[in-house]
Amino acid sequence: MEMMAEPHGALKGRARVPGDKSISHRALMLAALAVGESRIEGLLEGEDVLATARALRALGVALVRDAPGVWRVHGVGTGGLAEPEEVLDLGNAGTAARLLLGILAGHGFTSFLSGDASLRRRPMGRVVRPLREMGAQILCRSGERLPLAITGRFRLLPIVWRSEVASAQVKSAILLAGLHAPGKTTVIEPLPSRDHTERMLRGMGASVAVEALPEGGQAISIEGEIELSPQSFTVPADPSSAFFPAVAAAVTPGSEILLEEVCLNPTRTGAYEVLAAMGAEITVVDRRELAGEPVGTLRVRGDALKAVDVPAERAPSMIDEYPALFVAAACARGKSRFRGLAELRVKESDRLAKMAEGLAACGVRCAIEGDDLWIEGGPVRGGAEIDAALDHRIAMSFLVLGGLARLPVRVRGAETIATSFPGFADLMNGLGARIRPLEASA
Ligand code: S3P
Repeated sequence: MEMMAEPHGALKGRARVPGDKSISHRALMLAALAVGESRIEGLLEGEDVLATARALRALGVALVRDAPGVWRVHGVGTGGLAEPEEVLDLGNAGTAARLLLGILAGHGFTSFLSGDASLRRRPMGRVVRPLREMGAQILCRSGERLPLAITGRFRLLPIVWRSEVASAQVKSAILLAGLHAPGKTTVIEPLPSRDHTERMLRGMGASVAVEALPEGGQAISIEGEIELSPQSFTVPADPSSAFFPAVAAAVTPGSEILLEEVCLNPTRTGAYEVLAAMGAEITVVDRRELAGEPVGTLRVRGDALKAVDVPAERAPSMIDEYPALFVAAACARGKSRFRGLAELRVKESDRLAKMAEGLAACGVRCAIEGDDLWIEGGPVRGGAEIDAALDHRIAMSFLVLGGLARLPVRVRGAETIATSFPGFADLMNGLGARIRPLEASA
């Protein structure tokens, strides 16, 4: 499907973006491992999370959808999943693939995992290696990619694993495997990554300890072989999804929008801090807690933004927001520099290359230097046609840019937006954007 975004004026209004993707995946998976029935409201019903739901069903878990976003999950207990008859097709969802591998490592049967062309390109070695060390057998395609086969085992070996990348997916896979091992399993990460797994596990009765290390980084440990208690909660709105309207409003002087119940976990808010440093006025209206996470309504007021220099250490707290932040930088006055972006190359697409190519096609001066990207901001011409490359965030970023440029921007393959943000165009248009599907050409 092709979509087009046309230039818009100031954005106004209030909206709640769909539930957080990371929390939604974890809510389903951890509920499946609890003993008894969990009830989740506000679940993101995007393609990625539905892939997790389908996989859990194939593994013998009963999931009932009572109403839009309202799901009940009958947990089978850790180690209680059943061998799936079919290949588990995880579509576009890296989080589903990597976290499920952690769970499957602790089950003594064989599963086959695959996904779409984007997921089949993504590196799995970062989770495969520690899970092998814990005792799972995993056979992958060259480059340790999907499709792969995993034969887990009942009672894994607890390990101490030092991850080279600050990745919440790696950390979570090891912690979930650690649930199926006696004693203490530890994962060391070089910088703090999102901690939803740790929060949720604690809320369900697990003992999870975090220790800051003198040499930098942190060690996260879990005590295994415990019973998780079921939970009822509401999933907060996704700060990564909310960042698209936030950018559109921030760069348009005169805009004022309210984004409700956004997850404000400090491991997720780095990009909002950068946008504020660029000159946007961002305030939190009512701060409270939801599902063990800090949430709040964000008020974003637009202004003329200025360039920014973002150091590599900020990356984990804003990893999914870079594409939209690059759009803000393209519209800001001056030369912005974003450092240490290697991880962007292994997301749903090579986001570093795709964003630089697309921005250049829209008339923006920018260049990749090593793992850094610089962008010379100013009025943007637009007027390009961009291929989403099976990457929802590439699609949404360029549709946001189309609203801010002089000429419309078209995005091919925009159906990929449904992986994380169903209703994106309607929500944006409700605030004053002008995004619409184009008729399929005959
Ligand atoms: C996620 C972690 C991040 C992020 C992804 C979701 C998660 O990936 O990019 O969209 O839910 O744990 P990495 O762990 O690979 O950095």
